Amino acid sequence: MYFEVSDKYRQATDEQLREIVYQAKKKMGDRLLILAHHYQRLEVADVADFVGDSYDLSLKASQHKEAEYIVFCGVHFMAESAEILSADLQKVYLPNPLAGCPMADMADLDDVMMAWKTLQDIGVADNTIPLSYMNSAAALKAFCGRQRGLICTSSNAQAAFKYVYDKVDKLFFFPDEHLGYNTGRWFGIPDNEIVVWDFRQEEGGIDLESLKKARLILWKGHCHVHTNFKASQIADLKAKHPDAKVVVHPECEWEVVKNADAVGSTKFIVNYIEEQPAGTMIAVGTEINLINRMAHQFPDKKIFELSGMKCPVCANMYRTTMADLANTVESLGSFDRIVVPSAIKAEAGLALKRMLEVH
Ligand code: 13P
Ligand code: SF4
Repeated sequence: MYFEVSDKYRQATDEQLREIVYQAKKKMGDRLLILAHHYQRLEVADVADFVGDSYDLSLKASQHKEAEYIVFCGVHFMAESAEILSADLQKVYLPNPLAGCPMADMADLDDVMMAWKTLQDIGVADNTIPLSYMNSAAALKAFCGRQRGLICTSSNAQAAFKYVYDKVDKLFFFPDEHLGYNTGRWFGIPDNEIVVWDFRQEEGGIDLESLKKARLILWKGHCHVHTNFKASQIADLKAKHPDAKVVVHPECEWEVVKNADAVGSTKFIVNYIEEQPAGTMIAVGTEINLINRMAHQFPDKKIFELSGMKCPVCANMYRTTMADLANTVESLGSFDRIVVPSAIKAEAGLALKRMLEVH
């Protein structure tokens, strides 16, 4: 897809872009709702009506029925979820349509259907419920809706696991292996009842006997930002600064979450940082824009990223600039909005509504 904003916005100063957004907000009032994920650039988060984690933002999209236009500064699956949860007359926009999520792309509908067919062939699908991480395409959410399944985010994965295990013995989770594994471990599922379906291999690279016995079937997807963090980084930090606190996102590997002081969604991480007393040293295992915003907001605390390499950037979250946002709010009628076909929307909506109910 080709996408470019015009010179009018590319050549404008930050102040001019901010003014364009403010004028649009003033003119449209409640008819315009700007949502921003915690990983957005500081200047974009600054002008949003709400900044939140993916759960909270989907909730806002479902609650603000007065907003005719929802501009979602985040990545594609988030805007798509907002579109599914919003009312028919509301219109949802992603200011930079190129902003995707590589982890979401690791679960392709055909590949997931192939895994499901294997579960049917070995006779266990009736005793299995699919659970998709929010970071997935709408068609996969629809598959969950059809199969008694639901969606979760990092803030309600344990509640979603409980929902499934109250009904059946087996849970099929995609696309994030690490969030699935961490939640399974917190839920008490032992290693010998967990298998990982590797979509690059024949029959997931799992022997059918293990698949039959497994209670938790994970998908071999991951987030390249969060897998940068390692347990050795925590050990090195604690050796030098025993009082330092470490807070990480549950998309990190098990060894990392096991050794951190606290683990949770982006909203949880923000709250955790806010609650620490002045002077606390806090190493954070998540995306750099959230960390930089927190460091800017709390200069009395020493907030830094855990790996020490300044590398955890989500390039897709970073794509959305003030120029993109200004362009979107000034051309709402003509800018391409997010559209989900109605059949997919109905089934995906079922799965998302189950998520909102179990939170
Ligand atoms: P949250 O649901 O915690 O905001 O996380 C979304 C995400 O994509 C993290 O990488
Ligand atoms: Fe996707 Fe990772 Fe970026 Fe989150 S941080 S949007 S999981 S690539």
